Amino acid sequence: MSDKAADIYHAAGTEKTNAAQDTQDTQDTRGTQDIRDASNTEASSEETATPVKNSAKVIDLSALHFEPGFLAGLERLYFIACGSAYHVGMAAKYSIEKMTRVPVEVDLASEFRYRDPILVPNSMVIIISQSGETADSLAAMRLAKEMGVPTLAVVNVIGSSIAREADHVMYTYAGPEIAVATTKAYSAQLICTYILGIALGIAKGRIDQEKETAYINALEKLPDQISKILEDKERIQWFASKYANAHDVFFIGRGLDYAICLEGSLKMKEISYIHSEAYAAGELKHGTISLIEDGTLVIGVMTQNDLYEKTRSNLVEVKARGAYLMGLTNYGNYSTEDTVNFAVYVPKTEAPFTASLAVIPLQLMGYYLSVAKGLDVDKPRNLAKSVTVE
Ligand code: M6R
Repeated sequence: MSDKAADIYHAAGTEKTNAAQDTQDTQDTRGTQDIRDASNTEASSEETATPVKNSAKVIDLSALHFEPGFLAGLERLYFIACGSAYHVGMAAKYSIEKMTRVPVEVDLASEFRYRDPILVPNSMVIIISQSGETADSLAAMRLAKEMGVPTLAVVNVIGSSIAREADHVMYTYAGPEIAVATTKAYSAQLICTYILGIALGIAKGRIDQEKETAYINALEKLPDQISKILEDKERIQWFASKYANAHDVFFIGRGLDYAICLEGSLKMKEISYIHSEAYAAGELKHGTISLIEDGTLVIGVMTQNDLYEKTRSNLVEVKARGAYLMGLTNYGNYSTEDTVNFAVYVPKTEAPFTASLAVIPLQLMGYYLSVAKGLDVDKPRNLAKSVTVE
């Protein structure tokens, strides 16, 4: 995580005054959000923060230039995006609703723009885009603006069209993304949504300082935890090499795990050309289970403790129909091995943040399948890095 890729907004009142906002260059400083040590808050010349008396780290969203009280007044969020950025929105729905109890809707930009959308008052539209030039996302944002709803862009490319036209911008600072299949921008976008969720929860009085500190500590541990997952990559490479000739793979999970499945499945499709589907695990028996036959690979994602047993029982159902099972869960859930043929573990984090860890083995699966098939991982066929036409 970049040291700028975090956005902090302290409950004790780090909102800028309008006068302070007026002194900023909105072209150059928008989105330079930060996680900072509250003990340094007074040292910042840009801030009009209430001094914080301890050294807890805090979220500071002042660079986003929200009006004072804006976040506290929000009653709904709409995430709008395409592809992997849409999957970030799906993950954000689960994590932000869990953290804040504020309803979150998620739309594909290509659907939103043509469905005559209904946007409620006191809401905000959040466009997520790595390139900042995706045609459908840009059009969706323009529509939201026409409808008078404030817009926030979570964007990687500085100065891109979406970043320029949004009312507020939160840069992901993931650096240039070259390969067509997004990985680091996806990860950075997730972090932005967590930070926004924490800020929203604080502003609405639903996250206290103790919880805020716990969340920030968990965020700061993510890079080391990802490094630990990467240490296990040879096991995933070995497993992927066995499935290089697979025709169909199914990803199943519930809640946030379902959102993680969506991204794992897309990665597999786009770089290994293996057909895969992501299903909410409870939906399987409403039709899809008829596709399971001897040897079909089913990947169960089970990072949410409250849903673990539910998804595990869905895995048992497909195993009884011949499926070969990979289970992805947290360290400690070793009973997974009673059910699955191949288990992968990720370190524990705060439940709303598990997508950041669980997506890594799934990205590695897509990557190693692609390598095993001798494909060009960075330049998959038929795809462009930035989709600037409908
Ligand atoms: O630049 P954007 O984030 O707006 O792009 C959205 C999608 O086109 C993009 O995420 C696409 O799905 C990626 N190739 C997935 O790896």
